[in-house]
Amino acid sequence: MKTRYTILAIDTSCDETSAAVTLNNRVLSNAISSQVEFHREYGGVVPFLAKRMHEQLITPAILTSLAQSRFVKSVGDVDAIAVTVGPGLAPALEIGIAKAKQLSLEFQKPLIAVNHMESHLVSSFALNRNGNGPFANTPLLFPILALLVSGGHTQLVLMNGPGQYILLGETLDDAAGEAFDKVAKMLDLGYPGGSIISELAKKGQPNYRLPVPMVQSGSLNFSFSGLKTACLYFLQKQKRPFSRRFTIDFAASFERVMAKALVLKLTKAIEQYHPRQILLGGGVISNLTLRKEARKIAKRHGLPLLVPYSKRLFTDNAAMVGVCAWYQAKRGDFVKDIARLERQPNLGFGNDENL
Ligand code: KG4
Ligand code: ZN
Repeated sequence: MKTRYTILAIDTSCDETSAAVTLNNRVLSNAISSQVEFHREYGGVVPFLAKRMHEQLITPAILTSLAQSRFVKSVGDVDAIAVTVGPGLAPALEIGIAKAKQLSLEFQKPLIAVNHMESHLVSSFALNRNGNGPFANTPLLFPILALLVSGGHTQLVLMNGPGQYILLGETLDDAAGEAFDKVAKMLDLGYPGGSIISELAKKGQPNYRLPVPMVQSGSLNFSFSGLKTACLYFLQKQKRPFSRRFTIDFAASFERVMAKALVLKLTKAIEQYHPRQILLGGGVISNLTLRKEARKIAKRHGLPLLVPYSKRLFTDNAAMVGVCAWYQAKRGDFVKDIARLERQPNLGFGNDENL
């Protein structure tokens, strides 16, 4: 059974056009073209614009990833092509899938269909070119508990082995990143809000009391719409324009309550499922307060908490897709009928039997 794979991976799930070359779980290159500047003036991702930008950026991203790999020269040199098929924005996914299909047929390479959230989960398994990363000297010890927090998803997932996942909880309404983005908008901070809030929060004091969402609920699900509404009502009562002092203190208060809400459920899941390792994945883990709070809880339970070796692996990128695809390749999980492969915008954990 072949276990060594050089993979060209593609991700166009939202507003990042990314291509990467991986060798097993080593990242040889990870080219990311952000479209943020184009969507900013609309205050959020515009699907048709994302599609058009992916069309323009995908080939340059692939060429950059090949050149930066310093290992393969052309698509003909890789063992397989991998692409995100969902979840994500349908018109955006479509572009990456079409490109991957075309390359797979043209160069006669097997195709691997990857779940975007699964790739966020395995992003901690990635090693750099020299073989360094959180799992370089640590074996995977199952069950592994993962908290995945991105712009579109908030999930707690139990991993019992490669490809074996149980979704323990998810958001019932907004995703954590979405809540950051919406509250940033309410504070007139622009888009994308998560990173702006977290920058401001560093200088602020969390003086404002906001309700911690789902604190009473026994389930492992999340909900952020109540907190969002509480923020809206609170801000409506404030004098505009908001003072700088007010904005940074409110940002710190909001960030703290978000971190609390996420870590509260993480703690509950640790106590219920007794994992041996904990992983964080997704763009929102760029938030230092969240990582600190999660680390505290992991330490209290005597557990290692692992995050990807580079910030480029937190937000959307194709290197994590390549790493995920390597695990799939090793178990022979290739696309059987390329012509019939379609985007799956609502793909979840456990409903991918059509791949
Ligand atoms: O994983 P990701 O790049 O894309 C999706 O798959 O959705 O996550 C993007 C999300 C955005 O909502 C963004 O505001 C949020 O991650 N984000 C942050 C930070 N940096 C990015 N949220 C909180 N704090 C940050 N530092
Ligand atoms: Zn993502």
